[in-house]
Amino acid sequence: MGQGCATLTNAGFPRLVQLTETELLQFAELIYQRAGVRISPQKRLLLSNRLRRRLKQTGMTSFAEYYRHLGRLRRGDAEWDAMLQEVTTHETYLFRDDVQWNWFRKAYLPEREAAARQDRAARQLRIWSAACSTGDEAVTAACCVAAGLTDLSQWRVRILGTDIGVGAIAQAKTATFGVRAMHQTPDELRRRFFAKSASDDAWRALPILTDMLAFRRHNLMDTPVERSFDLVFLKNVLIYFDPASKAKALQNVCDALAPGGLLVAGAAEGVADLLRGYRRVEPWLFQKPATSIAHRRPTDSSASRFRFQATQS
Ligand SMILES: C[S@@+](CC[C@H](N)C(=O)[O-])C[C@H]1O[C@@H](n2cnc3c(N)ncnc32)[C@H](O)[C@@H]1O
Repeated sequence: MGQGCATLTNAGFPRLVQLTETELLQFAELIYQRAGVRISPQKRLLLSNRLRRRLKQTGMTSFAEYYRHLGRLRRGDAEWDAMLQEVTTHETYLFRDDVQWNWFRKAYLPEREAAARQDRAARQLRIWSAACSTGDEAVTAACCVAAGLTDLSQWRVRILGTDIGVGAIAQAKTATFGVRAMHQTPDELRRRFFAKSASDDAWRALPILTDMLAFRRHNLMDTPVERSFDLVFLKNVLIYFDPASKAKALQNVCDALAPGGLLVAGAAEGVADLLRGYRRVEPWLFQKPATSIAHRRPTDSSASRFRFQATQS
């Protein structure tokens, strides 16, 4: 570890001191080993600023001391969680990427309703927002489900949101969103499914949404603890990974998809080449093979299923 971090403020923690090149590489490797996230050397200032907040919280006076401290902690220690929460990017908001949400509302949910009309047992939905940050994506899915299904009470719906960030998950559990997070939420849905707090500009999701939702911490590098999801949102997270960690995270997520289940990926996630055997329904939408696929007659094409017609409104 370098020595260049010892400029102390009155409060006893370093201010405006950056990681040395060596420290940057060491912390970047630690973060990669734990989260799969690659921190590029260009992010030195950003990483320095983010780690400095952990130094302040822990009372450490140098990056070197903090690095040694982390090395002594067991893997599940709360400081590891706090560090990973700090160094990852949590940008999100409700109804981000409207093409995907239009597809979800206007193609996916009607398709599921049609299937459920043939088979009452099909009235269940299992959705995973993997890397949900503060829960905005999961709550958006709940909003669309509540607005889109004709009789929600007849359905069993579970929407799981997970993230590596402990702070992000704690925030998600409050189901409370500020002005910026809500800025894309259609007024009608905002009025129906959120209560505005009297004291500040925040909206809290109503029980009709929160009853469908569960949040918990999960690292995409680990084996998923729940499976058989019909639909997984995996957006704006693999862009921070390198090819090896991306492949591992994607494999973990795919293992949790039910046969025939769908993966909604971020536009820049670059997963198409890794999803061998999956059907690419849209540039950002992939379908896992159904076990029965080999038995399907050649004329019995499912090519139009789940496809979103851009002309639909
Ligand atoms: C930019 S946010 C994306 C949130 C949401 N999916 C969206 O598109 O709006 C990326 C999230 O990925 C999470 N993340 C990064 N590495 C992770 C990992 N190894 N396992 C689980 N979550 C991770 C971060 O904590 C962060 O909240």
